[in-house]
Amino acid sequence: MRITVCLSQQKPEPWVAGLQAALPGAQVSAWQPGDPPADWAVVWAPPQAFIDEQTDLRALFNTGAGVDALLQLRLPPGLRVVRLDDAGMSVQMAEYVCHAVIRHFREFDGYEADTREGRWSYRKPRSRADWPVGVMGLGVLGTRVAQALRVFDFPVHGWSRSPREVPGVVCHAGEAALDGFLTSCRVLVNLLPLTPQTENILNRQTLGRLLPGGYLINVARGAHLVDDDLLALLDSGHLAGATLDVFRTEPLPANHPFWSHPRLTVTPHTSARTLRDESIAQIAGKIAALQRGEPVAGVVDPVRGY
Ligand code: NAP
Ligand code: GLV
Repeated sequence: MRITVCLSQQKPEPWVAGLQAALPGAQVSAWQPGDPPADWAVVWAPPQAFIDEQTDLRALFNTGAGVDALLQLRLPPGLRVVRLDDAGMSVQMAEYVCHAVIRHFREFDGYEADTREGRWSYRKPRSRADWPVGVMGLGVLGTRVAQALRVFDFPVHGWSRSPREVPGVVCHAGEAALDGFLTSCRVLVNLLPLTPQTENILNRQTLGRLLPGGYLINVARGAHLVDDDLLALLDSGHLAGATLDVFRTEPLPANHPFWSHPRLTVTPHTSARTLRDESIAQIAGKIAALQRGEPVAGVVDPVRGY
């Protein structure tokens, strides 16, 4: 059994060594053009040339949760694409989003500015009933985030394509329910996959439906957000601010207005990192399961796009 590793933004060697240790019977190597075709591939944003050489693949494992970059490629029809299914990401995402929500809700930026100037100042406590949080996408990450926000007693709404049930969360489903979901929320967290249906979904119209003084947390993909619409809504005062972890172009270009906007927090696509050891264990477990003919979680539906 041959496993090939092709990672566009990381050194493949530790992945090769980890997979080899987890599957000692396999022949694992970092892809070189012209290698014999492999049975299994472990990839992040591989070049089309890599895909074109893989004529015998049983499955392609993506070393991230989002498969938008992979689905841009010409993949052989019927190829099984498997994404990371949590693998240590959901707890990171929950802590990132809760941090952003609480930092804004408790006005920690304002307190920090005051204390830097030696001011002992109180702000009026806010009622969390006035700060309903909406989570777009109730999948692996969105559900964990919604549950974590409930721990702090925020009213939480969720929105998904098909109906979901998450205890304590008001769940909305489908396009027809989007407006009711948005008008119920002051803080909006985006955890949708990037698909033709969700591209540009964070725009003047949708963000304009949030309660006044709204706050956006985009942790999914940069192409979900229409950048100029966000800036316009910040200028008009309808939005109070945003925390952005993902961007249309990454790294965020040096001259992009998001860098210097006083009410934006920018982080470098780091809200939920791929954890190598957890991911290798998950992928090795799935290869073994597929070899035994068992089903695995995280198989991508190419028609849905996630
Ligand atoms: P997931 O388990 O596939 O969940 C996706 C959720 O979005 C599901 O609830 C799905 O609805 C919903 N959805 C999809 N299309 C929709 C539509 N058109 N309308 C309404 N809801 C829709 O994905 P995940 O593992 O939670 O990951 C979500 C995304 O997070 C990834 O695709 C990736 O882009 C991003 N991500 C970012 C980072 C980072 O560091 N910033 C890290 C990891 C992942 P159903 O429940 O009905 O299927
Ligand atoms: C990161 O953005 C991922 O999709 O895993």
